[in-house]
Amino acid sequence: MAVYRHQTGEFRAMNAQIENAQTESENNFAQDVLEGLSASQKYLPSKYFYDAEGSRLFQKIMELPEYYLTNAETDIFERQADSILDQFSASGTPFHLIEFGAGDASKTSILIRHFLERHTPFDYNPVDISQSAVDELAADMQTTFKSLVVHPIVGDYMDSLDQLAQWDKFPRIVLFLGSTIGNFTDHDAIEFCQEIRQHLTTQDRLFIGFDLKKDPDLIKRAYDDAQGITADFNFNLLKRINRELNADFDLQNFDHQPSYNPKTGLAESYLVSNQSQIVSIQALDQTFEFASGETIHTEVSMKYDQEKINLIAQQSGFAIIKQWYDSKHLFTNSLWQPGNQQ
Ligand code: AVJ
Repeated sequence: MAVYRHQTGEFRAMNAQIENAQTESENNFAQDVLEGLSASQKYLPSKYFYDAEGSRLFQKIMELPEYYLTNAETDIFERQADSILDQFSASGTPFHLIEFGAGDASKTSILIRHFLERHTPFDYNPVDISQSAVDELAADMQTTFKSLVVHPIVGDYMDSLDQLAQWDKFPRIVLFLGSTIGNFTDHDAIEFCQEIRQHLTTQDRLFIGFDLKKDPDLIKRAYDDAQGITADFNFNLLKRINRELNADFDLQNFDHQPSYNPKTGLAESYLVSNQSQIVSIQALDQTFEFASGETIHTEVSMKYDQEKINLIAQQSGFAIIKQWYDSKHLFTNSLWQPGNQQ
């Protein structure tokens, strides 16, 4: 009986914690939506794309013929895994393979398969803020690769680097694939990489995927596919606000609008109000006016040239060791070490 009561108490404390965490994240969402829709240029932070439905839609985007990024990075890994591994671990020394934003790790699996075939000693550390996401991924990876050592880390990216530093002294190789860095403006990308730099020692490495500048039509099609999956991905933000914050966005009254500036490499996504309208969000106890043609900025997807990649590396305290390209030169993976650019 005492044991039972003790357990219930513990469970209750735990549930209270979980509930607090949930209310906190709901509040952040509500707060961020309020801030974004109150700004003179309305915006919604792109991190909110990735609820369960948004993550499913992003998986579908990665399978689209127009979304060349995935094929390009896959091509690099399939053809050049050996050369990549030579850089990760020249003399077969053990290392930690840490992945930020692993998703279903479909691309990383190509590298991992090669590494295991070469009997490289490493463990795989996918990092995610969601316990269920890492648990699911870890289980899947373990099923696919029986001999892989998987140690998932729940937490934010920088926490994970600190946690790993306490385990042992093996080099840490941080993967940030898919040109996810492109969701940052250059200023924020530099800040993010500087923060990573502060959490690494000189033996550690950062391996980043950059989508390159290219034929603007190819880029536009990648963000405006024929099946409209990218449009659904963008609209999912409004659906999410409707569902979680009790709003009455009518999706018919908005259009998906990507844009690309070849000079700056800035690709952006917008939702455009196709009429003058008023939307009410009950959880915020507020209404929002949209003029006809008014835009909500939803995403940045930067495209890079070598000069920009050099600049980001150098400004954040890294030197570029080596870069790999796909056969069409659409995309590059860049390997960095702490230090200054020569
Ligand atoms: C996951 C940020 C790399 O910007 O290309 C895909 C997300 N948005 N289609 C990108 C996305 C629209 C994607 N990243």
